[in-house]
Amino acid sequence: MTQRLKRTELALAAQMIQAGELVAFPTETVYGLGADATNAAAVKKVYAAKGRPSDNPLIVHVSSFEQVKKYAVLPNDYAATLVKAFWPGPLTLILPIKHGALDPIVTGGLKTAAFRMPRNQLTRDLIDLAGVPLVGPSANTSGKPSPTLADHVLHDLSGKIAGVLDDGPTDVGVESTVLDLSVVPPVILRPGAVTREMLLQYIPDVLDNHHHVAKDEIPKAPGMKYKHYAPNAQVYIVNSTDPDKFQSAVKWGLAQNQEVGLLATDAIIASQHLLRFKNQFSLGEDIQSASHQLFDGLRYFDLNPEIKLIIAQGFPRQGLGEAYMNRLEKSAGSEYLQIDDQQVSVIRE
Ligand code: TXA
Ligand code: MG
Repeated sequence: MTQRLKRTELALAAQMIQAGELVAFPTETVYGLGADATNAAAVKKVYAAKGRPSDNPLIVHVSSFEQVKKYAVLPNDYAATLVKAFWPGPLTLILPIKHGALDPIVTGGLKTAAFRMPRNQLTRDLIDLAGVPLVGPSANTSGKPSPTLADHVLHDLSGKIAGVLDDGPTDVGVESTVLDLSVVPPVILRPGAVTREMLLQYIPDVLDNHHHVAKDEIPKAPGMKYKHYAPNAQVYIVNSTDPDKFQSAVKWGLAQNQEVGLLATDAIIASQHLLRFKNQFSLGEDIQSASHQLFDGLRYFDLNPEIKLIIAQGFPRQGLGEAYMNRLEKSAGSEYLQIDDQQVSVIRE
């Protein structure tokens, strides 16, 4: 049985970690699946519980920058500068590691490792209390949307892990920015709430490299080659703020004798023709709320097996919109609907 642990049960959570068991923990991005990063047998269980391929390395969660220096080599001043600016927060740094400092099960056999200090105080207290850094991939079944609530964790992993430390809904809703500092110039491997624009202030030549990776290419972030965030239904993205286009898209879906889910902002959902449409989930009003709600929304439609098709709203690829669209595109397999004069066509970008 998986225990739902309250804030007051932090000591029990720390004991479970020390005993080599798995405890999911809250962060400002998504819930992570925690194990003692220095215990290879415990880390192995993380891959098994998630069904995660073992060549996809894990993030090491720390409660101080000092902890990072135990394992990593700092090739330049960027790490110290960025830590000062963004930690604790949703920025993961890839750094070269000291030889033998971390088990290959953590790093997927790479000579680098990913480090991050989460903003959630409870989780930093857990790291301090357990006395070890925690590996923490998102606490979902591999391929499913990441968990933003303890309920999502229990839905996917109940019976497979010892506990989940419940601290309510996460804040940002999409996973951290992953920045590779082991190369010059540094490269953004995964967009997140620490945006390209924010990083440019510290690294003027920072590169973007989070676009699609073909199956036979060796990806920089191993996680990029796998299917991700996929609900049971096929997701189609509509890049528009025009309620008429969403109405056409829903009609198009229903015309295929399919139950349709609509994942869109209040402005779309509240429009006259869609107000009474029953299978809808609100993304709130802006890119912040949309990022916060995205995974919960995708999971919501999984509760109704009749829904075979989800129409989801796209956002401009700026700021947090980069991260939102990166996740949404993966969940949709990059399928878009193009709508001109109520004519709907599927395009793949
Ligand atoms: O917000 C987050 O980052 C959440 C919370 C729980 O902290 N964690 C998370 O972990 O999203 P995960 O395992 O789902 O994603 C980690 C990503 C993967 O794409 C992985 O391939 C990449 O980081 N990664 C880890 N170590 C790496 C390394 N040494 N080099 C390149 N990419 C690495
Ligand atoms: Mg993940």
